Amino acid sequence: MSVLQLRDVGHSYFGRTVLDGIDLSVARGEVVALVGPSGCGKSTLVHVAAGVMEPRRGRVERAYARHGMVFQGPRLLPWATALDNIAYPLRISGMRRGERAQRARAAAERVAFDRADLGKFPVELSGGMQQRVAIARALVAEPDFLFFDEPFTALDAALKRRMQDLVIDASRAAHFAALFVTHDLIEAARIAHRILVLDVAGRGVAGERRLDGEPGAREDRAVFETVQSFLKGDPLFRHIHDVDERRVA
Ligand SMILES: Nc1ncnc2c1ncn2[C@@H]1O[C@H](COP(=O)(O)OP(=O)(O)OP(=O)(O)O)[C@@H](O)[C@H]1O
Ligand SMILES: [Mg+2]
Repeated sequence: MSVLQLRDVGHSYFGRTVLDGIDLSVARGEVVALVGPSGCGKSTLVHVAAGVMEPRRGRVERAYARHGMVFQGPRLLPWATALDNIAYPLRISGMRRGERAQRARAAAERVAFDRADLGKFPVELSGGMQQRVAIARALVAEPDFLFFDEPFTALDAALKRRMQDLVIDASRAAHFAALFVTHDLIEAARIAHRILVLDVAGRGVAGERRLDGEPGAREDRAVFETVQSFLKGDPLFRHIHDVDERRVA
């Protein structure tokens, strides 16, 4: 039973095709990592899948109740405190102020955001802190589907790992499904059930690989070896290696 399904989705900007013939489905409770070279249309695909943008072609079917979204970059309201940014989705839904603040504090705690910093404005926060506020905002309304667009790129290695573990644990506990864009194959191999590889812009899905075992139950060594085998011996990952100028692992 899939909670998100894209059928033959295509999109173009000013007549230039960036997505074409995209078929993709995410099952209930499944975490799908989406990788592909820079500029291949990953963010566009996420925006289309989440309904932030209408696709030029194809259909998107959503069977989840509520989604949360972590954009590429924090996208916080500059005039609102960290607490009010986290609580924003609850405010939209009309929740009372006291309860909103309580839930926002709990969400901040889940992403290891210090209580003492909740009264600060985005301009007073580091990049990593801003990104954690964005993640807490995505989790606060207890969504059953999450879109992540390279959420941890701004975080240092230790915090990145902690956040990945948080996603793994939260997806199990709250049983949410997710589409998780990353350019970090180690991250993909840690958190996902399946990795979907996008081809260069306009050519659709190049292929997918199902990962052994469950996220959270994989040894670091196994994750590392899986990624090494993708990079060294699997043609599906060759174009990522060739085209993406950024660090892969
Ligand atoms: N609003 C826009 N208007 C015009 N072109 C756009 C717009 N957004 C993205 N593009 C172009 O569409 C292509 C795909 O962009 P997109 O941001 O989806 O790629 P991406 O795979 O997320 O890249 P990255 O890995 O660098 O985040 C790029 O060539 C980009 O320049
Ligand atoms: Mg992007």
